[in-house]
Formats: sequence, structure tokens, C-alpha cells
Amino acid sequence: MPKTKPYPVPLLCFFALPPAPPILDFLTSFCQFIWRNFLNGGHCNTNLEIIKCIATPTCRCVDYHRKFKLDVEDLKSKLRDLNSRKKDVETQLQAEVCSQKQVKQQVEDWLQDAQRINVEIQQVEQRVDNASFLSRARLGKLVREKINAVDAILQRGSFPEGLVVDKPATALPLPVENLEGEVCVKEKIWGYLTGNEVQMTGVCGIGGVGKTTIMKHIHNELLLMESRFDKVIWVTVSYPLNVVRLQHEIAKGMKENLLENEDQQRRASELMEMMGRVKYALILDDVWQIFTLEDVGILRPTVENGCKIVITSRKVDVCKSIGCEIVKVSPLSKEESLNLFLDKVGRDILQVPELEGFWKAMMEECAGLPLAIVVIAGSMKGVTDVHEWRHALNELRECVKATTEGSEDEIFERLKFSYDRLQGSDIQNCFLSCSLYAEDYEIRRDNLVEQWIDEGLIEESRSRRAMLDKGRTILNRLENSCLLEKAYREDTIKMHDVVRDMALRIGPQFMVKARMKLIEIPDEHEWTENLEKVSLMQNEISDIPTNMCPNYPILTTLMLQRNSKLTQIPDCFFANMQGLKCLNLSKTSIESLPHSICNLENLTTLLLRDCRQLKHVPCLAKLKALKKLDMFKAGIDVVPEGIDMLVNLQYLDLRCPELVELPTQILGNLFHLQHLTVYSISTTLKIKGEELRGLKKLETFAAQLNDLQVLNNYAKSNHFKRLSNYQLVVGQVEEDFDPSSIDFSKEIRCVVDMVTSSSAFINNLERLYLDKLPNLSVVVNVEGVEATSPHILSNLKLFWMSECSTMKRLFSFELLQGLQNLEEITVQNCQQMEEIIGWEGEEENHTADATTTTTFTLPKLRLLDLRNLPELKRTCPTRGVMVCDSLQQLQIRECPKLRRIPLVGNVRPSPPAALKRIHIKPKELWESLEWEDPNAKNVLQPFVY
Ligand SMILES: *[C@@H]1O[C@H](CO)[C@@H](O)[C@H](O)[C@H]1NC(C)=O
Ligand SMILES: *[C@@H]1O[C@H](CO)[C@@H](O)[C@H](O)[C@H]1NC(C)=O
Ligand SMILES: *[C@@H]1O[C@H](CO)[C@@H](O)[C@H](O)[C@H]1NC(C)=O
Ligand SMILES: *[C@@H]1O[C@H](CO)[C@@H](O)[C@H](O)[C@H]1NC(C)=O
Repeated sequence: MPKTKPYPVPLLCFFALPPAPPILDFLTSFCQFIWRNFLNGGHCNTNLEIIKCIATPTCRCVDYHRKFKLDVEDLKSKLRDLNSRKKDVETQLQAEVCSQKQVKQQVEDWLQDAQRINVEIQQVEQRVDNASFLSRARLGKLVREKINAVDAILQRGSFPEGLVVDKPATALPLPVENLEGEVCVKEKIWGYLTGNEVQMTGVCGIGGVGKTTIMKHIHNELLLMESRFDKVIWVTVSYPLNVVRLQHEIAKGMKENLLENEDQQRRASELMEMMGRVKYALILDDVWQIFTLEDVGILRPTVENGCKIVITSRKVDVCKSIGCEIVKVSPLSKEESLNLFLDKVGRDILQVPELEGFWKAMMEECAGLPLAIVVIAGSMKGVTDVHEWRHALNELRECVKATTEGSEDEIFERLKFSYDRLQGSDIQNCFLSCSLYAEDYEIRRDNLVEQWIDEGLIEESRSRRAMLDKGRTILNRLENSCLLEKAYREDTIKMHDVVRDMALRIGPQFMVKARMKLIEIPDEHEWTENLEKVSLMQNEISDIPTNMCPNYPILTTLMLQRNSKLTQIPDCFFANMQGLKCLNLSKTSIESLPHSICNLENLTTLLLRDCRQLKHVPCLAKLKALKKLDMFKAGIDVVPEGIDMLVNLQYLDLRCPELVELPTQILGNLFHLQHLTVYSISTTLKIKGEELRGLKKLETFAAQLNDLQVLNNYAKSNHFKRLSNYQLVVGQVEEDFDPSSIDFSKEIRCVVDMVTSSSAFINNLERLYLDKLPNLSVVVNVEGVEATSPHILSNLKLFWMSECSTMKRLFSFELLQGLQNLEEITVQNCQQMEEIIGWEGEEENHTADATTTTTFTLPKLRLLDLRNLPELKRTCPTRGVMVCDSLQQLQIRECPKLRRIPLVGNVRPSPPAALKRIHIKPKELWESLEWEDPNAKNVLQPFVY
């Protein structure tokens, strides 16, 4: 029975590719249409337990009554059997589950089923007790149903292959550079970790010498060595030490959650208790300040508990005072340096013998510092010209000349050499601007590129897409030259802390105090007059003194975002910042924008994302230079005054939940708009279409349209054809609507009727969600459409359907021709669904010739998930096979009538090439499947779970 609660109103949504699919990128990979079906306000009746009342003759009723009593007894005794089995399983589990073993999914499911049936039967028993003589008869059927259900569960209740499986590794390995040299150091640390003498190790050495890299290797190897530690925890600590964050990160590393508790002592003791339950290895990377384990709540490692701590730090005294045994990391030997250098510069350099003298000399100048080698070799990659090498060598020698061995300068000057080699001031500026983020911060790649554009560091081009592409290219170059490095997540990047220090030295006109737990804005005297960029992001600044009116005439960038406690900015605050170009106040709690903002005539970027408290915005008419105004999820209910005067605006995000209307004339003057997104939960905010006519540069557009008519007209217009990304809603969006979040699919309930839609975008749909459409009978209604196009839905990747209760056949054979890009199919809770793929019309018309086999191909299908389809009989028609070589997972749950799953690979009799598992529940179903080709069953058998 479907457990999902009924949603009041279904929506219809399409996710589509642009008409002429450009290369999708990080920022704009979403294109979609969303409808709302206003017609269907009905709820689904989730209670399907309908008991038919038939008046019975009295004599039969007495008989019935006797039998009924027997049935009830039977039910009770079956339930007792089940419960004693359940108890056995639970007892056995208690003995077998340990830190390395976890309960099998199958067993967990079974226990849940057993629990559920207990509850259900309890309810039945109550009804039986209460029932009158006559109504008892009606309960008979129910009782017998329950007997069968208990039987079924009992039968599944033996687990000859055991109850538990090995746990997957508790943490993921970290991305890591090759480890060159440092083998002795590594062995020493390893010895301490596995032996008994030393419980706490301090790995020390100057920045860039490779401490973190060594520890990443050790971390990954510890993960493989499952039996030694229950948990291997990695936390990057950085400067300044934030005890609260440290506590939460450690808990997270143990896959636990620490309660949000104001009291540090309480948090510490909670953490300590958690740590006491496991044998842990804790690696604290990049520690700068002394702390005591007890204050944080770190359980002290001892010989008895077998736990270990390793700390890396540039400071020996820090490690010593925490109580660590010191392991010093020294620079690389000549040979090790050589290997690393060649790895990074590319070994094809060996093909050019004339260069040997140069690169060897250059390698020597790196003084065995792995970071310097990586960065310097990276910057010489692909260079084969002797002159260029000679020049570079001279430059490097110049840089290095003045440094003293063992000092921080040693590494900085070498890194600066790489920086100097970055060609073009734009790329250098982009690099420097990465240092505005907090130390060790994993920066999202798309945010970084966006920031470069916002700061004006990327040259103007005719389109946004061109600028984004340019930004991506710069990012790749910085990564290739090793000045930025890969972070944990694919879509993020980070700056090595030493490289960041170097960047901040080069840019003394920067003041960066990001994620430093500041509760006050730095004093005016800390702000020197020549400051160009100030970053105070991610702090806890709660207010700014009312008379603070700093004089920074050349400040161009001010980042105050993510100071969630900041509620007010004094009115005069921006009065002496006439040079300000980029201002980020996102994720602050300000209620109004200060008046002094009105005079920032050079301001090009104003970011107010997620300022949910923001209600008052002064007239913006004078911000003539403004190119970007981002108010996503800001609290305003009216459009800020003066927006229509911002003739240079290129980017306008007004997805403000409470916005009531968008006066038509506002868009009239904004000829340069490239990006326009407008949503609100208000029904009065609608676009009619005409307003857009003048926006000839628009590339990205997302909005609510007035009605289906407007959508259809717009979709046929030339304006629409120019867009490269769109997201259109007909009807109303819900609170918290954020189509870019992944949970989007869960927020929106969809329905579809393609006949009313223009085929231009139907074929570009990427995802289709259908939910609670009691009258839906076909996915694509091709009736009245001349000759079925083989391209219908040809871009569809994901299909999801739930509670479409009258749907009998999912896809017709004809429709299937188009679905060649489909990757995922999920169908659940459809009461009448009989087949997944079938012939149009009656099956008999197509099965006359009993000798031919029809092949149904879904070449990209990865997942087929069928759940709670009580009438489902087959996935494809008789004498048909499904060829799905990409299929990895087949999930079938609660489809009791299913008999045919003729799944094959292209090369028969092998199974689909990519197949990993077939999950069938209840498992007996597998045995009742029917096969035309008995081979097919045998080849699939090994995948069945
Ligand atoms: C569904 O069908 C029923 C009966 O045919 C009809 O009364 C009802 O209005 C339909 N609902 C919708 C949403 O079309
Ligand atoms: C049984 O009857 C009692 C008293 O009349 C009532 O409170 C209870 O809700 C009934 N239980 C069921 C399952 O109908
Ligand atoms: C502004 O801050 C928001 C919120 O942290 C962030 O997503 C965005 O990338 C920032 N933009 C710039 C240009 O700093
Ligand atoms: C805007 O910036 C330019 C230089 O970039 C400067 O000359 C001008 O004074 C600034 N505008 C204002 C209003 O200060």
C-alpha cells in the first residue's frame, strides 16, 4: 500500500534541452518546463482496504462464524511462530554485528516486515474483538489474508547465508599526489600508528615540504587496513582554530552527529563519549595553535584503547605542547626531486637533450621542496624552446637569490616565480582573487568563475556563455600549472595553504579575514587606505558601529557574505567607497540596504542572494554602471525602485518568494539583459510574453508564464529560439521552490499531456516526472498527430512515475523508438499497470506469428525500478525480449503478478553487459517467473539478490 501522503495539487513539469543543444555547462545545465494541473484537485484514497458487504443467509453465517474462530486461532499461532523466529534472528544479530559487520539489507527488510505485520494484526484483533456477530463475517477475508501474509514472511525468514555482511569502508580515500621520497618518514609514522609505543605523532616541516601528501597516503592505506581501526578520521584544522567546527568535523568523520549545543563543555563530553565507543585513528591536518584534547572532547589515545592521533603542523612547538612525538619531514633528495620534477613537467622533455642542463638546474633551485617542484615544473609543462628555458632559469635564480635556507621565503619566492610566469595580468588577477576565500576552503568551480566575471577580471565578450567559457579556460590553466589543486569533490578546487600565503603576500592590498570567527568588523585603523579588496566572508559579525564610515576610495571588492548575524549596516557605510565595483552581501540578515549605496556610481555587481530579511531597498536609479543584480530568495515584495533605469544591467535574478508583481515597463529599457530569472510564490507575478520582445541579448530565462496559451505562443516565437537555457513554469511554484536543487523532483508533482504542447520542446525534454494523475492513460498522446515521429522524447534521460492509477501500459512499441537515450525508469504505486512496454492496441494482433521474436532495445538504460505494481504482468510482450546492455540495476518490489522479464544482452545468451544486480522482493517471485528461453534464466541467476 502506498505510504506516501497525498499531495494536494499535482504539477506538470518538463526538463528540456535548449532547442539547438549547446554544450551544457555548470551554470546553466537546467532547462525545463513546468506545468501545473489545476483541474485535478482530488486526493488519492490511500486506503485500499475495501471490504465488500454482501448480505449472507443466516445458516451459512453460523458456519462462517465457526470457521472464522478457527481462522483467528490459526492467525494467532502463526504470528507466535513468526515472532519466535524474529526473536532468534535478533539474538543472533546481536552476537554477529560489530564494527566491521553490518546487517544485510535483506535481513533488515525482513525484520521490518515482521514488525509491520505485528502491528497490522494487532489492529485486526482489535476489530475482531469489537465486531458484532454480522460484521465478523466480513472480517473473515481480512483474517485469511493476514494468515497468508504471515506465512509468506515466515517462509522468507531463513537466512542460510548468514545475517551480516562486511561494512563498506567508513570513509572515502582522498585524492592524492604521487608520493615521491619521504618513504622513511612515512614508515616511521606508520610504525607509530601500528605499534604500541607512541599514541600521538606530530608530523612537522616547513610549508610545502609534503606533510599533507604523506598523511593522505597513510589515511588511504589505513582505510584498506580495516581491522586495525574502526574509524579513520581526517580533519583539516587550519588557522584560526575553531573548536566548534573541529568538534563537528570529528563527529562527522565518525558518521555521527553532534547535537547543536551552545555549551562547549557539554559538546565536548558528548564527543568524548562517542569517541569512547570506537577505536579511532584521528588525523588533524594543518594545525597552527595549541589546544588541549579534553577541551575539544577528543578521547586521549592510550595503549589500552588502541586509538591514535597524528597532527601535521609547520610548528614543532605546537606539536610538542599537545604532547606528540615529533617526526620531521625533510626536503627531498636529489633523486626524489628529479622524479617528481619529471612527473610534473612531462617525461617527453627527455626527448630534447639540449634541455637537460636547464631543467636539472631548475630542479636544483627548488631545494627539494615538493610543492615548489610541483608548481615550477607545472609552469614549464609543454615548453621545449631552449631560449625560454634559459630565460626561466635566470628568472628563478633571481627570485631565489635573496632567500635564506629554511625560512618561509624559500618557498614563497619559488612559488612567486610560477606566478610571474602566468601569462597575462587577467590570469594573475584571477589567481590572486582565489585567496579571498578562507584557508583550505573548497571553492566551487562555478562560483569562482562567476566571481571573476563579477569582479570584472574577465574581459567582456558578446555573450555570457563566452565569458563563462573564458573563465573555465583560466581555471584549467591555473589547475594545470598546479597553482590550484583538485579538492575532495569534483566540482570544487582549492588553493594549497602555502600558495595562498604567497598570493596574499603578492597582493598586500588585500585584507582577508575569511572564516575567522570575527564577531566585530575590523577597526578602521586596520583598514589601510590603499586596500583594494576586502574579504570578511563567513564570519559572525553581528553589527557594524553606527558611525563607521570608512574611507577607502580605491576599494573595488568587498565581500561580507555569509555573516548570518549581520542585521544592519550603517547608512553612511559606503559613502567613501566610490570606487567599489563588486559588493557581496549574500546570506546576511540585513533588513534594509543603507542609503549610501545609492551613490556607488562605479558599482557593477550587487549580490543579495538569500537575504531573506531584506525588505527595504532604496532607489537604485543612480547605479548606472550596475551589470548584475542578484536577489535570489531575498525578502522583498516589490521590485526595487529605479531598476528600470539600470540600462547596463546584464544579469537580473528576481527569484524572490514574496515578490508580488513585475511591472511591465521594468524590462522595457534593459536591452542588455543576458540573464533574467523571475519567480515568486505569488500568483500575481506572471510574464505575458510581450515584455520580452526588446530583450534581444537574452540567453538564460526562467519565469512563470501566465497560462498554457502564453507558453505555446512563446515557444513558437523567434525570441524563444535564441535562448540557450530556459526554465518555464505555467501555474504556481511552491514555497522554497528551487529548481536548481536536486531535491527539486520531490517538491514538484507532475502530469503530462503532450498533445497541447509544441513538439519543438517535447523532443528536448531531459526528465519527466509524473505523479498522482488518476486519469492518465498514455504518456504521449500521439492521436491526431500525423505520422509518429521517431524522435519523440529522444532526449529523455529520466522517467519517473508514481500513482498514476489508471495507467496500464507505460510505453508503446512506437514510442520506444524515440526513447533511445533513456537512462532511468522508475514506476511505482500504479494500481493498474500491466506492462512496461507493449503493443499499441490488443496484444493478439501482434502475436499471430509465434516464431518471430521482437527485440525491444533501450541501449542506455541503467536503472529499471518497479515497485508496488499489483497488476504488472510483464516488462515486454510475449515473444519479445528487452536488450539493455547498459542496465546495471533491476529492482522489483511488490509486483506479485509479474511473470515475464525477458532481459538479455546483445550477445546471447550473455546477460546485459553492465548488469550488476537484480533485486527482487519478495524473493520467491524469481522462481515463479516464466521463461521462453531457459538459458536466459540461468545467465541472470547469479545477479539475483
Ligand atoms: C477523471 O475521470 C473522471 C471520470 O471519467 C472525471 O469525472 C474526472 O473529472 C477526471 N479527472 C480529471 C482530472 O480529468
Ligand atoms: C473498540 O471499541 C472501543 C469501545 O467501544 C473503542 O474505543 C475502540 O476504538 C474500538 N476499536 C476499534 C479498533 O474499532
Ligand atoms: C557571493 O556570496 C554567495 C554566498 O556565499 C556566493 O554563492 C557567491 O559565489 C558570491 N559571489 C561572489 C562574486 O563573491
Ligand atoms: C569611479 O571610478 C573611477 C576610476 O575607476 C574614478 O575616477 C571615479 O571617481 C569613480 N567614481 C566616483 C563616483 O567616485
